[in-house]
Amino acid sequence: MLLKGKQALIMGVANQRSIAWGIASAFHREGATLAFTYQGERLKENLDALLDTIGGHATFPTFPCDVQNDEQVQAVFAGLQDRWGRLDAVAHCIAFATREDLARPFPEISRSGYALALDISAYSLIPVARHAAPLLAAAGGGSIFSMTYNAVNRVVPGYNVMAVAKAALETEVRYLASELGPRQIRVNAISAGAIKTLASSAVKGISKLRDLTEQTAPLRRNVTQEEVGDVAVFLASDLSRAVTGNTIFVDSGMHLMGIAQEQ
Ligand SMILES: NC(=O)c1ccc[n+]([C@@H]2O[C@H](COP(=O)([O-])OP(=O)(O)OC[C@H]3O[C@@H](n4cnc5c(N)ncnc54)[C@H](O)[C@@H]3O)[C@@H](O)[C@H]2O)c1
Repeated sequence: MLLKGKQALIMGVANQRSIAWGIASAFHREGATLAFTYQGERLKENLDALLDTIGGHATFPTFPCDVQNDEQVQAVFAGLQDRWGRLDAVAHCIAFATREDLARPFPEISRSGYALALDISAYSLIPVARHAAPLLAAAGGGSIFSMTYNAVNRVVPGYNVMAVAKAALETEVRYLASELGPRQIRVNAISAGAIKTLASSAVKGISKLRDLTEQTAPLRRNVTQEEVGDVAVFLASDLSRAVTGNTIFVDSGMHLMGIAQEQ
């Protein structure tokens, strides 16, 4: 029960394969009280069905939140202020790029596709942190974390515009960590290995990446949503009270490798 007494907001559950759902399940197991955001009414049905498996959807505060809509982002935290008055952790598990902008050659990325990917996948962490900060400070401090991928430091064909968005996101994590730190608010990123989800299905070559991980990563296997969830528990818990501004790799060590290993 590492999160007993903690109140956490989970952003980005689309279905049972979502990394956010792996995080929610781990938080629930560890005794956290949870609230959720969902992108639209269709995804609310998915979320409600999942929440029914862990105690009933009516018991969890849920908020509509398209991160391109400033009023909705603000309303989430106003709602949590009314309901809880404080917050211990925020899991930001949100990203989007059009399939076209992921698929086209890098020099062909469109201005509009670039702006969209950066707005949803990177900028959104800033208003989330801004509105979450007073609630986290009211708890004496807390934890914000987001999800990234190592296409930032290495070229992963097919990741294209999303790699740029993740580079921006990782930089935001460091700047937010620096500025929110005096209020004891930690900001980190988890860099997960390739996992099959709705979002990753838009990345051409995700299956190849997973095969390569099995052949090449130090642990010779892919990672699961549950394994990401367990590291998220650490980041939301007091065990990580001195950890901020980091990118923590949960990728079987794949980020270390330069070339494929001999079997
Ligand atoms: N799956 C992987 O291999 C992998 C690896 C590393 C990092 N990540 C990151 O993990 C995070 C979660 O992705 P996932 O793989 O679980 O896929 P997913 O499709 O389950 O989750 C993506 C979420 O982003 C939400 N979203 C998209 N646009 C939004 C908007 N405008 N407003 C609000 N929400 C919006 C979707 O509703 C969805 O819930 C993403 O940041 C992704 O880049 C995924």
